[in-house]
Amino acid sequence: MSAEDEVSALPLEDAKAELDRLHALIERADKAYFQKDAPEISDADYDAAKRRYIAIETEFPELRRPDSLAERVGAPPAEGFAKVRHAVPMLSLSNAFDDQDVADFVARARKFFERDKGLELAFTAEPKIDGLSASLRYERGVYVRGATRGDGTEGEDITENLRTIGDIPNRLAGSGWPDVLEVRGEVYMTHADFAALKARSAAEGGQDYVNPRNTAAGSLRQKDASVTASRNLKFFAYGWGEISAPIAPTQYDSVRQFGDWGFVVNDLMMRTSSVEAMLEHYRTIEAQRATLGYDIDGVVYKLDRLDLQQRWGFVARAPRWAIAHKFPAEQATTILNDIDIQVGRTGTLTPVARLQPVTVGGVVVENATLHNEDYIAGRDSTGASIRDGNDIRIGDTVIVQRAGDVIPQIVAVLLDKRPADAVPYEFRTTCPVCGSEAVREVNPKTGKLDARRRCTGELICPAQSVEQLKHFVSRNALDIEGLGEKQIAAFHADGRVTQPADIFTLARRDAESLKKLKDQEGWGETSVKKLFAAIDARRAPELDRFIFALGIRHVGETTAAMFAKAFGTFAAFRDTAYKAGNGDEEAYGALVGIDGIGDTVVQSVASFFANERNEKAIDALLAEVTPRSYVVTVAADSQVAGKTVVFTGTLERMTRTEAKAMAERLGAKVAGSVSAKTDLVVAGPGAGSKLKQAESLGIAVISEDEWFDLTGQS
Ligand code: IVH
Repeated sequence: MSAEDEVSALPLEDAKAELDRLHALIERADKAYFQKDAPEISDADYDAAKRRYIAIETEFPELRRPDSLAERVGAPPAEGFAKVRHAVPMLSLSNAFDDQDVADFVARARKFFERDKGLELAFTAEPKIDGLSASLRYERGVYVRGATRGDGTEGEDITENLRTIGDIPNRLAGSGWPDVLEVRGEVYMTHADFAALKARSAAEGGQDYVNPRNTAAGSLRQKDASVTASRNLKFFAYGWGEISAPIAPTQYDSVRQFGDWGFVVNDLMMRTSSVEAMLEHYRTIEAQRATLGYDIDGVVYKLDRLDLQQRWGFVARAPRWAIAHKFPAEQATTILNDIDIQVGRTGTLTPVARLQPVTVGGVVVENATLHNEDYIAGRDSTGASIRDGNDIRIGDTVIVQRAGDVIPQIVAVLLDKRPADAVPYEFRTTCPVCGSEAVREVNPKTGKLDARRRCTGELICPAQSVEQLKHFVSRNALDIEGLGEKQIAAFHADGRVTQPADIFTLARRDAESLKKLKDQEGWGETSVKKLFAAIDARRAPELDRFIFALGIRHVGETTAAMFAKAFGTFAAFRDTAYKAGNGDEEAYGALVGIDGIGDTVVQSVASFFANERNEKAIDALLAEVTPRSYVVTVAADSQVAGKTVVFTGTLERMTRTEAKAMAERLGAKVAGSVSAKTDLVVAGPGAGSKLKQAESLGIAVISEDEWFDLTGQS
């Protein structure tokens, strides 16, 4: 029976009462969804309420209210926030977990600049604020736009929300700022404001707030900026994006300058040239952590001189010239109730500890990773001990540890609390999902048994195929809004999506299906429309993301980006990899010739593309999506942009790493060996076979000095 049929049978009075009730319900749901970012009813229930509301109004036009919601049907306020592209990407930081990592960082810097005789390197050290980064754009000293970090390249326009923050000036103070100035920093909430909000909400029976960081994030993404204003957020300035003129020659002075222009800067920032002083400052900040009044999760060190920062450059998504020294993880003691085995994307069997729930650093932990079979046994396959050499048994009292957003892990067993009847854990040798044999391979490089056991079922294993799909849509891969792990799992279970291509044919198949998605639990007309639009929006993914999304073993984000950069198009990459997988040595050579790519990766890529099942899956996918070509945006006008360069022999004015960084900054590709694809060889004294090879292929050879002239860097 349709909503309309039932409605015609209603007495007028009942119809009026129901219309009023629905009006209130819909208004409340709209508010929760669009203003609080916290839906209170499912999309399906919402759609049903809306349909009935309209049915009643249509049947009883006399009951139509002046503030009718009918016109608003299917027209919720614009989807989320507008997108903002960051002219200068917002990067993340590499991590240091102990003093040695910090010493290594400083040593790397000294090594990189070792040719610059007598140069003393200074570093800044400042707290790492546990909030959310934001970018604020000022034009001629006036605040014009504010954005979230988003994925680093594209964030959300939250100009008005950021404007409500007292620490963010609407007009810059002082003078001398560049015409275009993007100030970057961290939005955060103090402990006091968090506690007050939590108490207020509890008194009103409102939502619970987990921690200051998430609350600050939620507060910033309010549709109604007056809600943001009521949260009293704060902001520390520590960096910058696009600037039309230099601010100062160093990190330290630039941040000082921000202070003069009216920003709040952290007063725990200092500058030094010694590792000892950096570490001492880390301990000073750590000691103050509990009394600072806001959350910090470490200390950030940055190379001070900006010209040197530029020379040292970046890796994938983080600068080489900065590092975050994280505070140690937090621990608690609890009981190991059980061990479950999960099957990952590449078939790895991962043991998961089911724990007696315990609070670790303010978060309730119920599950932790046990890594692998050897980790549970406390010994590796050669008998060497792991941790203290003790095995972990169900029933044991264990120490669980959390470090930042890392998955909690079991780090020790308290043997004196072990129950008398506890038995050693026996790791299964078959896949718990598909029953295939699960094996431990011998690592060809080390000759040692791999610590991980792997299901041999590949795509016939439902666990592997669903994990592949989850990876495909994950944040750093295709990143399809509204299509997360939960939805993929459901679509996989009901057969809607069994391979990546199916995601893109979903809408077409749904149109013809009798079992429409909008009628399924948890879905409604609006949410399905949104999902299909989000899928369509990803039909031309960036090449590096696309390669990463394929889930090729050993091809992480950085490696995927290297391939994207080296080949420019998916067709070129696939073609070479396919040939390499079918015994073509030149193609194999082209792959291992890419600087930073080794045999393990190339073998994995080659066998991936040579596999017929993968070939079919990729063809089906390419019928639906067209990966974009990789465009090198850095210094496209430089003499060497787009060229493939090989450095050989002894370099006298720069280290090999610096040479590579410089070439890449100028848009060149750096290869490790000379081939017909090489455009230029830079040869220093002592150059041997590569130089000969270049000469025999008729490739241009220049000296190091000529390289500096050519690139205008001398
Ligand atoms: S500098 C290019 N300094 O940490 C380097 N980041 O893990 C950009 N963060 O996304 C970051 N305090 O949100 C920097 N004093 C600080 C920071 C800081 C917090 C955050 C920032 C960044 C994340 C990276």
